[in-house]
Amino acid sequence: MTHKRMAKLIDGRIVAEKVYTDLRADIAELKTRGVTPGLAVVLIGDDPASRAYVRSKDKMCRELGLHSVKLELPASTTQSELLKRVGELNRDSTIHGILVQSPPPGHIDEAAIVRALDPQKDVDGFHPENVAKLVLEDASGFVPCTPLGVQRLLLESGVEINGAHVAVLGRSMIVGKPLALLLMQKNKNGNATVTVVHSRSRDLPQITGSADIVVAAIGRAEFLKADHIREGAVVIDVGINRVEDAASPRGYRLAGDVAFDEVSKKATAITPVPGGVGPMTIAMLMANTVKAARQSAVHT
Ligand code: GUN
Repeated sequence: MTHKRMAKLIDGRIVAEKVYTDLRADIAELKTRGVTPGLAVVLIGDDPASRAYVRSKDKMCRELGLHSVKLELPASTTQSELLKRVGELNRDSTIHGILVQSPPPGHIDEAAIVRALDPQKDVDGFHPENVAKLVLEDASGFVPCTPLGVQRLLLESGVEINGAHVAVLGRSMIVGKPLALLLMQKNKNGNATVTVVHSRSRDLPQITGSADIVVAAIGRAEFLKADHIREGAVVIDVGINRVEDAASPRGYRLAGDVAFDEVSKKATAITPVPGGVGPMTIAMLMANTVKAARQSAVHT
């Protein structure tokens, strides 16, 4: 059997550590001015995956010496109770960033909750004002954490975004849409030709097959196959899917949106799941929280 060349692994944990090294210096500087960046994470209900995310965000805050508030509300929490809690966090001067874990239970109007956030504390970058700033390329706004993490991962790995054709699979508000906007921005960290491909796209393999960089964010386990990419492409896997696996002690394993084994033989570089984009999302949340604290310190 012939051994095919294996793609370079893009290690999100290592790049995230580099982000934290920079952040520690920024946090120390803010603390000398009497500002401790504070993040509030709101979780409604007890979805196990969401609980795990919220726990790792809280843990990272503590490791960096940030003020961290974890608000765990029952699944029965009403819209008006949640709006009241968001209002309290908006007025709390020790809190610079607020994140409401998505998705909330079905009876919650998520768009209304996002609109109720103080845009200056919206470290998720979901508020319409921050979405507008992303479109307008106004750097004072907040950009969603996963897209920021994907961009940083590419840049730190020496992948040229400038002028490249990037195919983004998925058009979600959290990843696909903001990532497309970010990578097409008119600056040296952007300037990509972006194609957004989704579940209704005709000729998906033809489009992804012509891209220099393919970012998979469609939430379907092992969807992207070797036939979908060109030889030598860079592949970023945003997916975190739980796949039933009787052989695993937990009863499931984590799989990305990319069929890693076959795609890694054809790509030049690829992110693993876990250990790729995931650690970068948390790092960028910390970076956005520090940015929010810095901007609030300027304004007061
Ligand atoms: N659920 C999955 N990813 C995210 C995220 O980046 N922010 C929030 N608030 N919820 C999420």
